[in-house]
Amino acid sequence: MSAVDVLEMLAMLGMAVLALISSVFYGISNLLYSLVPKKFRVKNIEGQVVLVTGGGSGIGRLLCVKLAKRGARIVTWDVNEAGNEETMTQVRAAGGQCYIYTVDLSDRHAVYAAATKVKQEVGKVDILINNAGIVTGKNFMEAPDELIQKTFDVNILSHFWTTKAFLGDMISSNKGHIVTIASVAGLAGVNKLADYCASKFAAVGFDESLRLELKVGGYTGVKTTAICPYYINTGMFEGVKSKLIPILSPEYVSDEIVDAILLDYYDLVLPRFCRYLILLKYILPFDGAYKLYKACGGHLTMSEFQGRSKPEEKPNGLEDKLLDKKSMA
Ligand SMILES: NC(=O)c1ccc[n+]([C@@H]2O[C@H](COP(=O)([O-])OP(=O)(O)OC[C@H]3O[C@@H](n4cnc5c(N)ncnc54)[C@H](O)[C@@H]3O)[C@@H](O)[C@H]2O)c1
Repeated sequence: MSAVDVLEMLAMLGMAVLALISSVFYGISNLLYSLVPKKFRVKNIEGQVVLVTGGGSGIGRLLCVKLAKRGARIVTWDVNEAGNEETMTQVRAAGGQCYIYTVDLSDRHAVYAAATKVKQEVGKVDILINNAGIVTGKNFMEAPDELIQKTFDVNILSHFWTTKAFLGDMISSNKGHIVTIASVAGLAGVNKLADYCASKFAAVGFDESLRLELKVGGYTGVKTTAICPYYINTGMFEGVKSKLIPILSPEYVSDEIVDAILLDYYDLVLPRFCRYLILLKYILPFDGAYKLYKACGGHLTMSEFQGRSKPEEKPNGLEDKLLDKKSMA
């Protein structure tokens, strides 16, 4: 190793130590900042355009209504036209403006076409919330290939198309926000959720990489936030049972997401203590962590899963189409 290499190594080591010391400073300043009342810390989104994918139901709809109450102009994209219309009714009842588009997020060309329409008809999107999601909820070998594919199309690939469509304008003005609705299942694996977990792990990685890319590029005005909630009783995970961690209410989760957006959080894990529970999987040996998973009933949460079993509740009737195909064959 040459003297130059040694000097470079020492300089890098010095910078790494300084970075660690600065983390203590950031920790303390964040703590002090959190003591300032929330109303002085939240950003003003009045008149801003917020686009919510999957705004026709559950968390997406609640976000539309709550962000409209803060003065945002709402755009919802959903494959469920009736769901979108109900959201528009609720946003208008709350005194807001709402634009609805029937879009199948698993179709990249449909996403780009809808994005062009939104830019022409509504304007620049200031906050993009990638919220739409689906779940197969079957043991790995029983999950039909088409549903696995669809899960990735909706839960992660669509984030690439929507973000590509709207990020350019945000970068040009160095102002905007990309919100990823991921899941605790994007931080820890769960049996019977291989495709769902893999797509949510991807969503978490997408958010983190995008944030780093924006920071490295100097676009500090464009924020990103990853939201990782535990099970919520919206109907998407109908039938799940949870012994230790309470199933969350949509009201609570949507309130927390609104705060996370308005306060420019980098990420949010709900309930908050799950962040520390997940750390255990990196600290404990796998067999110990597995015993803990079983002791907490983690292995049984999905055993009575039904999901959105009624046809009208399914986002795209894909499973029915698959069954139809099978019965025709
Ligand atoms: N419900 C939970 O337990 C839970 C937990 C953690 C994370 N999440 C995530 O939160 C988000 C919202 O979930 P939710 O509980 O409100 O579910 P939901 O089923 O009520 O809402 C999902 C929405 O996405 C829409 N959608 C599905 N496929 C689509 C497609 N191809 N194109 C356009 N829209 C489509 C649906 O029509 C629906 O309106 C999802 O990303 C989900 O993975 C949910």
